[in-house]
Amino acid sequence: MSTNGNGTAVCPGSYDPVTLGHLDIITRASEVFDNVIVGVVNQPVRKQKTLFSAEDRVKFIQAEIGDLQNVHVLAFATLLVDFAREHGANAIVKGLRAISDFEYEFEMNQLNRKMAPDIESIYMFASPQYSFLSSSGVKELAMFGGDLTGLVPDPVAARLEEALKR
Ligand code: PNS
Repeated sequence: MSTNGNGTAVCPGSYDPVTLGHLDIITRASEVFDNVIVGVVNQPVRKQKTLFSAEDRVKFIQAEIGDLQNVHVLAFATLLVDFAREHGANAIVKGLRAISDFEYEFEMNQLNRKMAPDIESIYMFASPQYSFLSSSGVKELAMFGGDLTGLVPDPVAARLEEALKR
């Protein structure tokens, strides 16, 4: 077990699918916290149906975090703060890319803080090379046969091409 001394963090998201930007945040969180639970939303809120099942989305992430002993991936269908509590997490870690992320995250922060003032939300800025990378952007590229190299893990790129190429 890692001994960073900062407890357990949840890195939540839809991860439909996971991108290299998500994996960058998960890896960086694993260097700061003793344990990281990647929480894959199994019940999209205010969003369209996901392209990949929760099981697939969990597996895509598990396949990439092999070396990170202190990271575990689980699907959840409850309130995020309840999921965090259930796993003894004291923090929620999320990535911030551009200013456009701010308003949504600001709202989520207020909601989560109101329900669980004891769980701190912490934001990590996306690494510059991933600042404009999103799961929805990647799906759109895949739909039009764009090159996904350097955006998502290779097995995910293959599955996206299979699922979306016209
Ligand atoms: O942008 P994402 O990836 O869809 O974010 C999902 C999540 C859970 C991180 C965000 O919606 C959030 O912080 N929600 C707080 C409210 C909540 O717990 N919703 C239930 C999710 S199952």
